[in-house]
Amino acid sequence: MKDKKIILSGIQPTGTFTLGNYIGAVRNWTKLQEEFDCIYMIANMHAITVRQDPAALRKNTANAYALLLACGIDPEKSIAFIQSHNRCHAEMNWVLACSTQFGELSRMTQFKAKSEKHPDDINAGLFTYPVLMAGDILLYQSDLVPVGADQKQHLELTRDIAQRFNQKYGELFTIPEPYIGETGARVMSLQDPTSKMSKSDENPNACIFILEDKDTIIRKFRRAVTDSDTCVRFAEGKDGINNLMTIYSAVTGKTMDETEREFDGKGYGDFKTAVGEAVADHLAPIRERYAQFSADKAYLEKCWTEGAQKAESIARRTLSKAYRKVGFN
Ligand code: TRP
Repeated sequence: MKDKKIILSGIQPTGTFTLGNYIGAVRNWTKLQEEFDCIYMIANMHAITVRQDPAALRKNTANAYALLLACGIDPEKSIAFIQSHNRCHAEMNWVLACSTQFGELSRMTQFKAKSEKHPDDINAGLFTYPVLMAGDILLYQSDLVPVGADQKQHLELTRDIAQRFNQKYGELFTIPEPYIGETGARVMSLQDPTSKMSKSDENPNACIFILEDKDTIIRKFRRAVTDSDTCVRFAEGKDGINNLMTIYSAVTGKTMDETEREFDGKGYGDFKTAVGEAVADHLAPIRERYAQFSADKAYLEKCWTEGAQKAESIARRTLSKAYRKVGFN
């Protein structure tokens, strides 16, 4: 029997990661590697549910993979692969689609939001996206799935699909649970701290990209929106400062109390600069490793090829069982 629980998560290859992706997700993924059997996937099949430039997708996928390694995902400890390299995902998608109801998919809030955003391309893939995601999770008999709030509903649906399949055809799938990390800090926009940090924000000062240089990072933090109080403390109504304190805590490990004491009697200016510096220093080694990995195409290809082989050997077993259960000869 397996002794460690299985964790699976995926991230879409959309250019570079933001500080929000990093603190909210990918950094926690690296910590989980010690305790669990982890499988991390670049979800390039999910990416084509919205229109993509093929050359850019190819490049973004490779870069996202390099970035995973740069952030500390260890391809010896974990399985790190690119979704389209493992054909089982497409095949499982079909089987599960036939155990998913139209009505269920129609209720997905992300589908509604994305169809409003792209009214000229409401394709069937966008609609069945959660089924593909269910396959990602169920193929590996995952116990735990670290997901952000925006993917919770998809995970709920995955559980429903798995339970329904198990009932109809006999026990096959492990029913996955959401994994809620210790802090799982939510990083907010530096320009509007009531909304989530997003790479699509029109204001370039709202979002930190993890490969940005030190000066840019510090400059953006210095421009961060705060409040008219002057005291660095974590409190209701101080969204801007709360966000900066959360980020500071995430990169330095200091508690809110320690931070309040550290900046006692100092102004917001000093604090913002300190947060900017701490973030830039924390990200510097990632930038360095990223530069190394992305310059070494042979190494990257070796890692993702091996990752896909390992992923496929696990997924293939589950897929074969599913095929047998539904009555394929
Ligand atoms: N849909 C997820 C997102 O957009 C990415 C993803 C794809 C994923 N497959 C997954 C996340 C499986 C967790 C588990 O963020």
